[in-house]
Amino acid sequence: MNELPFRHVAIVVFGASGDLAKKMTYPALFSLMANNMLPKDRTHFIGAARSKYKMEDFHKKISSGIKQSSDQQVLSKFLEKCPYISLSAYDDGPSYQRLDSEIAKLESQSTGSGKNLRVYYIALPPSVFGDVSENLRKYAWHKEGINRIIVEKPYGKDYQSAKVLSNKLASLFTEEEVFRIDHYLGKDSVKSVLPLRFGANPFLSSTWSREHVQYVTVNFKEAFGAEGRGGYFDEFGIIRDVMQNHLMQWIILAGMERPNSLSVKDIHQAKLKFINDCRPVRPSDVIIGQYTASSKDPNKKAYKDDETVKKDSKASTFATAVLYIDNDRWRDVPFVIRCGKALDETRAELTLHYKTPPDSLFPSESGRTGTTFTIRDHPEKSHVLTATTKKPGRGFTVLNAPLSIDFSNPKYTDSYVPTAYEVLIYDAVRGDHTWFVPREEAEEAWRVWDDAIKNSESRNPLKYEYGSEGPKEEKDLLKQLGVEFETGEGRTVDVAKVIGDGGRVQTFAKEP
Ligand code: NDP
Ligand code: BG6
Repeated sequence: MNELPFRHVAIVVFGASGDLAKKMTYPALFSLMANNMLPKDRTHFIGAARSKYKMEDFHKKISSGIKQSSDQQVLSKFLEKCPYISLSAYDDGPSYQRLDSEIAKLESQSTGSGKNLRVYYIALPPSVFGDVSENLRKYAWHKEGINRIIVEKPYGKDYQSAKVLSNKLASLFTEEEVFRIDHYLGKDSVKSVLPLRFGANPFLSSTWSREHVQYVTVNFKEAFGAEGRGGYFDEFGIIRDVMQNHLMQWIILAGMERPNSLSVKDIHQAKLKFINDCRPVRPSDVIIGQYTASSKDPNKKAYKDDETVKKDSKASTFATAVLYIDNDRWRDVPFVIRCGKALDETRAELTLHYKTPPDSLFPSESGRTGTTFTIRDHPEKSHVLTATTKKPGRGFTVLNAPLSIDFSNPKYTDSYVPTAYEVLIYDAVRGDHTWFVPREEAEEAWRVWDDAIKNSESRNPLKYEYGSEGPKEEKDLLKQLGVEFETGEGRTVDVAKVIGDGGRVQTFAKEP
């Protein structure tokens, strides 16, 4: 893909010493280069942060996030393109002047034609976004070239600070130059909602509403904690970390009306309309928790035992919240979102739970015959629809059986499936804003969550053990709503009724 029309491409990773840079950004950059998505001879990946590293140590650090099985020759070629610059501080002008002259040197050595492209990726806590943007604009914005800035989530801390950040960015850059990244928008599992709903699937599109859907769940669970990330996580908590942005984006695509076309403008318009219809989440509809140490595994320490976390921290590492949408499609349908760290498993999925029609010939006494449709990102990428059907055998017993596609089957995928970060960084290099978050959307998403977050911060989070299913109190909220996170595919037990010998109807109501 070397036809990118640039003389030189500089991708600058701010916060190159951090967790995101190691786990996601550098592996994505490596893969883009290894798969020839960027011009090999004309691209550099410049790391910048305050930490001091010998070049060798920096390369060791970023290599540790890249797959061990990678071709070592390709890896060393990549590392040659990865200089590192230590900044004195994020608000220190001379550090940015140094950065600018380093990039200019690389640009001047390039033999390509076209304009120079600089992409600044801000993998830093939001508290420093402002300082970094100001100094970049002042000292390191290429005057004749093309410049872009990728801003990580969370976008501010609340509605007010998001507005302040927007005004700051707007005073420095054009909206065309700003790319607000939410890596969930780079995921196939999230984007697939569009063809599933608006492609040729009448069995889904015609049932995708309150008429047929009883409730929607988003179940995001991680079997690992926030270890070592206290510097960022403790101030933000899980609602701002994943619920207000990643999971909300998934819900927006699943809930919005059909855009007029797949143009950037139409998709962004449809998304914004949906957010405007979201009712602010009520504080009483939110459960929060924080993990304590595991009683079984001494390595699974309490959130507060992490050395990067304050000893009296009230940050939540678990939350369940209920969202309602005030429009004709979704009125009164609860969207129940759960997210948690240090739980019993890693899972990320969005599920529509269908109503059981009142005239069903196969009702279950527990009311659990409703079928489900799940779009899953973890533990495997799949779509699973469950259908009520006859269990083979004597009599007439019905069960919910999965009709599923597992995308780990190579039959369904290209040989090269880029990660969400690769997709989005490449989109930013090409200047495509479709799967980035526009200004108004980024701000409005806070309006939905502000009260709930503020209220949750005045409470003590409920306790749950590392490796458990979360705080027990969550069950009360779910019971009250009549909601289960389970998908139908697990229901391999008989439900409904059995017609026995001689055509007599017997009730078969037993379920585990
Ligand atoms: P880190 O805590 O690892 O911070 C990244 C770097 O920022 C650090 O190496 C440090 O660099 C600098 N830094 C940390 N705290 C401060 C501070 N208080 N003031 C100034 N600089 C600081 O964070 P992550 O890498 O985890 O996250 C960075 C951003 O990326 C966040 O906005 C997060 O939401 C987002 N993100 C993270 C993901 C992840 O999995 N980690 C996934 C998706 C998004 P130095 O001291 O060298 O300057
Ligand atoms: C990040 C959060 O934005 O998303 C992390 O900061 C979280 O806390 C991660 O672990 C989840 O992303 P994924 O792609 O693994 O679901």
